[in-house]
Amino acid sequence: MQVIMTDRSSIPQHVAIIMDGNGRWAQQLGKERYEGHIAGVESVRASVRAAVRNGVKYLTLYAFSTENWGRPQQEVEAIMELFCRSVISEVEELRRQGVRVVVIGRRSRFSERVREHLESIERQTSDGDKLTLVLAFDYSSRSEIVAGVQTLARRVAAGELSADDIDEQTISDALYTASIPDPDIIVRSGGECRLSNFLLWQASYAELYFPTVLWPDFGEEQFDAAVEEFARRDRRYGLVNDKKL
Ligand code: IPE
Ligand code: IPE
Ligand code: MG
Repeated sequence: MQVIMTDRSSIPQHVAIIMDGNGRWAQQLGKERYEGHIAGVESVRASVRAAVRNGVKYLTLYAFSTENWGRPQQEVEAIMELFCRSVISEVEELRRQGVRVVVIGRRSRFSERVREHLESIERQTSDGDKLTLVLAFDYSSRSEIVAGVQTLARRVAAGELSADDIDEQTISDALYTASIPDPDIIVRSGGECRLSNFLLWQASYAELYFPTVLWPDFGEEQFDAAVEEFARRDRRYGLVNDKKL
């Protein structure tokens, strides 16, 4: 029997995914764009299962960007409705798998109904200890940084913090992701090679991976491929890898 040894350090602790390509998937099949978003929920389920199975501790999913509010109203409403319905349909299974859901982003623009669903999933899954599923919803990295800088400026003005004491950790702690480690790998489905305002501060040493598969076709196999790709990367953090000298 062949035993495959897995090096724990080769498993990313935090995988972040830009779930892109729902619209193109739908258009290719002659469907409405929102049908692509509905189909994408199955890929979210598959990614959560694969993350738990691989021992990944944090999975961040970019579900709706601040810029996405500018899409046709019908599409935005369909996404909000899908979010509320998914909260209700998925909560039991998430609890069963030990998944804790945390939502990052600005909450003030959501309707009362969306806000309630968002708070409800966070509350109902708060004791999950296998995987933290971070949903970036009305998220943009630049607005997150602006909010964080405002918080720090207020603390300096109030005399609670000295400007000279602001370091990288202080800034990390002022972001929505304060208690979440930086992503080890950022995956973007759909083939576009850009970050679209996602985790710009946190991504400083993340590996980047851009599979061409559209999000509704992304399954456990594609998640495993991302984990395998990560294991092949040589993270040097600006140093030299003496094992290869
Ligand atoms: C990603 O898929 C989902 C959201 C941005 C909400 P898209 O809707 O951007 O799909 P494409 O990129 O147009 O195919
Ligand atoms: C990024 O995808 C946002 C999400 C996946 C939620 P977009 O489709 O909005 O990004 P661009 O327009 O291609 O940069
Ligand atoms: Mg897109």
